[in-house]
Amino acid sequence: MDDATRAGGGEDGGGPPPAGPAAYLSELFSLEGRVAVVTGGSSGIGRAIAAALARSGASVVIVARREAALAATAARLRELGRRAAWVSADLATRDGVRAAAEDAAAAFGEPDILVNAAGINLRPPMDDLGEDVWDATMAVNLDAPFLLGQRFAPGMAARGHGRLIHIASQQAFRAFVTSGAYGVSKAGLVALARSQAEAWSGRGVTANTLVPGVVLTPLNARISADPARADALAARTMTGRNGLAEDFAGAAVFLAGPSSAYVTGQAIFVDGGFSVH
Ligand SMILES: NC(=O)c1ccc[n+]([C@@H]2O[C@H](COP(=O)([O-])OP(=O)(O)OC[C@H]3O[C@@H](n4cnc5c(N)ncnc54)[C@H](OP(=O)(O)O)[C@@H]3O)[C@@H](O)[C@H]2O)c1
Repeated sequence: MDDATRAGGGEDGGGPPPAGPAAYLSELFSLEGRVAVVTGGSSGIGRAIAAALARSGASVVIVARREAALAATAARLRELGRRAAWVSADLATRDGVRAAAEDAAAAFGEPDILVNAAGINLRPPMDDLGEDVWDATMAVNLDAPFLLGQRFAPGMAARGHGRLIHIASQQAFRAFVTSGAYGVSKAGLVALARSQAEAWSGRGVTANTLVPGVVLTPLNARISADPARADALAARTMTGRNGLAEDFAGAAVFLAGPSSAYVTGQAIFVDGGFSVH
């Protein structure tokens, strides 16, 4: 069913009695029959999003480098009763991205949903930031999402439905502890979502970013290992705690599902109020 058909259901304006809550929630959020590709789906935020999409009905392909973590995550997704597959690939090279895209599409067919969660954060001070760190950061954080979008989104547009979801960072909007190349790559990702939204929203493909603040994942192991630092960062939020990977489940299901058809080109902050405090 494409977005225009779903939109025909509309709000309750008469006609037969509305369906009960389960059916209504399913109409808004179900991913039954959808195929999702989640890069970085073996760890942290990507892993939580992969599980959320699977629990909402999607068949999920996760992409990262380390095979053991991929296999363990895919096994967990299958325990949830869903089809799951994994692709080991290095998204730091364009050939790696291209191969990953073909292998991912081979698992369950062309995806309806693409989540770009794979990312790296190398933090040399700006004085020491060399071309190697710049290139590596742009390759994984920005080039790979661009190339995967170019590979998958035209097909989504031809089918009249698609969802592109990128995981950006508050560092796309402000400098924060040697943002260096990382903040630049994430700002590019926010702009990429806008460009993609402009190109494809009229054909049913939305593009948005989720914007985390500080989330206690392996990427931030150095913060988790320093309780005073973690507490200080938590105090800068409005909710009084740092983020957890699971905090992204609901927003990701929303952006992946039918009810976000009119939300596109947006950066949605999931940060406990960090950015507005
Ligand atoms: N944690 C935070 O506070 C925070 C804040 C703002 C934004 N973010 C963003 O959120 C996203 C997820 O981060 P996270 O905190 O969940 O980090 P994480 O737990 O370290 O997960 C990163 C994922 O990316 C994969 N990955 C890294 N380099 C890759 C490469 N070259 N090729 C393929 N896969 C690669 C990793 O798997 P392998 O190592 O096995 O390849 C892993 O699955 C990232 O884009 C990050 O920038 C995180």
